[in-house]
Order: sequence, then C-alpha cells, then structure tokens
Amino acid sequence: MHHFKYRNNELYCEDVPVQRIAENVGTPFYLYSHATLKRHFLIFNQAFQGLNRLVCYSAKANTNLAVLKLFANLGSGLDIVSGGELYRGLKAGFSADKIVYSGVGKRIDEIDYALDKGILMFNIESLEELELIDKRAGMLKKKAPIAIRVNPDVDPKTHPYISTGLKKNKFGIDIESSIQGYKIASKLKNIQVIGIDCHIGSQITESKPFEDALESIKKLITDIINLGIKIKYIDMGGGLGITYDAESPLHPSEYARAIVKSLEGMPIELILEPGRVLVGNAGILVTKVLYRKASREKQFIIVDAGMNDLLRPSIYKAFHAIEPVLKSEEKTIVADVVGPICESGDFLALDRKISNAKADDLLAVMSAGAYGFTMSSNYCSRLKVPEVMVKDDRFEVIKARQTYEDLIAGECIPAFV
Ligand code: LLP
Repeated sequence: MHHFKYRNNELYCEDVPVQRIAENVGTPFYLYSHATLKRHFLIFNQAFQGLNRLVCYSAKANTNLAVLKLFANLGSGLDIVSGGELYRGLKAGFSADKIVYSGVGKRIDEIDYALDKGILMFNIESLEELELIDKRAGMLKKKAPIAIRVNPDVDPKTHPYISTGLKKNKFGIDIESSIQGYKIASKLKNIQVIGIDCHIGSQITESKPFEDALESIKKLITDIINLGIKIKYIDMGGGLGITYDAESPLHPSEYARAIVKSLEGMPIELILEPGRVLVGNAGILVTKVLYRKASREKQFIIVDAGMNDLLRPSIYKAFHAIEPVLKSEEKTIVADVVGPICESGDFLALDRKISNAKADDLLAVMSAGAYGFTMSSNYCSRLKVPEVMVKDDRFEVIKARQTYEDLIAGECIPAFV
C-alpha cells in the first residue's frame, strides 16, 4: 500500500498533486511519501512483535538524510556498507550502537572510523578482514564486536546480479570455513564474537530461500555454541521483495512468521536489514516527455530522465510501471520509453503498453524509491535530479538539483596541461 493515488484522473502524492511539485521544482525529480515510508517501517517492525529484534534499515536503498532521519525517529537501526553511509547515518541521528556494517571490501580508514564511533557489529566477509579488524582494534585500544557473514549456498531465485548467497558469489564465508573462522575469531584478543550473519539476495518473493538459509545457519549455531562460543545476535540480512509488476511477494507478516517459526527455541536476538521493502514503493521518479518519434518498427517516447537517473531498467531489465501524471481518455500505444543518453541501453521501458503521451506530458515512473537516486550518476554530465518529500499537504525539496558548478566541483586543471 502506498500513497500515490489518482483523484479525478490526476496523480497525487498524499494530498499534493504531483503536477504542482513539477511546476515548482522542474523535472525530472524523485518524490517520496512520508506516510508510506512510515507505514512500511511500522508494518515491518510490528510483524516481528514479541521477538527481541532490531530492524536495521539498509541505507544503500535510499540514503537521503531526510529518509534516514525518518527511520531513526521510528527507532530503526542502520545497515551500512561504507564510511560514507556511516557518516550519513550519524548525521541523521542514528546511534552508533544500532549500526551494523557489511561489505566484502572494508578499507582501513572505514574500519577505523567505525571502531572509533563504536558500532554494534562488523559483519565479517573474509578471514583476512577478520585479522585486519583485530589489528586495527588493537591499535585503537578497542574491542571489535563481530559476526561472521555466512554464505549458506541457497538459491534466492532472483536476478543473478542481486543474488548473493550462492557459493559462486563473492559474499560471506562458506559454512564449512566459517566454523574455522569462529574458532580463530574467538581467540583473537581484540575481537568479540557476538553474532552470525547472512544475506542471500534481494527482491526475494518466496519464503523458502529464507527458511533454507536459516536451517543451515541453525546447524552452524549449534556447532559454534558447542565450541563454547556465545552468539547473541542472528542477522538475517534483507532481501524481501516488492511488487513492481505482477509479483506477489510475501507480506512482511508472512516473512516474519517463517523466520520466527524457524528460530523457535533459539535464545537469540534477531537483526533484520530491510531496504527495498521499506522504500521501494514509497517513491516515484517524475519525468517529462520531450519528444515523440516513430521509426518504421517502433514508437519512441523520449523523456528527460535517463539511465543515469534510474539505472535499474538498463542493468537488470527491471520493470517499473510508468503512469501518466494526468490521465486522459486517450488510447494506449506500445512504445519504448527512452532517455536522452547516447546508449541503446538508455531506456526506462521497452515495448511497453502505455498512455499515448505527447511532448510536455508528465510521466511517473513507479516503485523508484529504492536503488533509484542512490544508483544515479553524472554520466554525460547530466545534473543529478532533486529529491522531494511530501507529508500530508506539504512538500519540501530534500536534496537540491545539482548545478553546473556542482558538476565540476573539486576538479582542477594543472599548470602542466
Ligand atoms: N543487507 C545486505 C548485506 C545487502 O547487501 C543488501 C542489499 C540489503 C541488506 C538490503 O537488501 P533489500 O532488502 O533491499 O533487498 N541495486 C539492486 C539491489 C542490490 C541489493 C544489494 N544488497 C536493485 O536495484 O535491485
């Protein structure tokens, strides 16, 4: 459920007509609904009611400070993968002891930063990383709390680029080696083992992969406990999918039921790292039609947003519904919705049945709140678009559109050129 709805054939975000925002800020822009973000967090968190748990919103899906702050206010923790995300998280008011840090390539400066701030735990992805964190913690006179990210080798049945829990993926440590990892970790002076972690992939729509992952992890936990090592947290990562088109993903309550059932009897606190499910359907990308053209084979709708603004269709062939901001009775056509960039991969939709949009019409690219702005770039020296948040009948720009000066900030021409 989200708060992007038509009233008299006009698309609204909560109580604000999307067209009014476009007139104010220009196009393209990302638009987020406060009520939807809040509702999604509360539903997800309440699904695990009764269980000792910490929901750590996965920052990478949408890192705008206003979005982060909204979740921090609701009691969320944060899942980060970089020093930059830690910086944003702290700026937005997350307390460090609710922040978990994953990622296969943590750098020394990032490790030191996280140690200095006192995060809840590092999710360790290799034995070399474990050794490095022990060494850095020793130098900084800290004890580093860790979980090992276990790769349970289950098929999440999702796009290959976003499946992470298969043996062939670069993530985590396989089950057999992780026992060894725990033995080593428990002996390191500056490491405190506190948890076990896994994340098997993203946009997962069924419960089976999660259940399978938990099954293998539970066995491992028993083995670890038998070694006399204490585990306080089990971090199940993120991955719950959303409806972009016709998918019918698990409801958070079904997802919670599956996890809670598998965890029965385990004296353990649960950490979850949802990203997409909290923000995906809470955001849209609004773009304007620039031109129409037809080739012998195709109709093209050329819009002012491109693959640099929303990359998902180009790299995953991801489906995003595209709706007119003002609905007219006009017929539908089949067209490619393409951006202004000089690549054939620059499209938002291919062979899409869509309203017969003309130049200057506004289109809403739906379900763009997750991995939309965060994956955008300045390719072709295109300015990054603004982000706007609506609450009830108000809206505010939460990130300004870049300017040409922003584009070249930090660049210089050396005298020897
Ligand atoms: N935890 C870890 C360790 C992760 O790597 C991820 C996502 C999450 C949590 C959050 O997963 P979610 O709940 O959002 O599925 N750019 C891709 C998605 C990449 C996901 C990467 N990791 C896309 O646009 O579909």
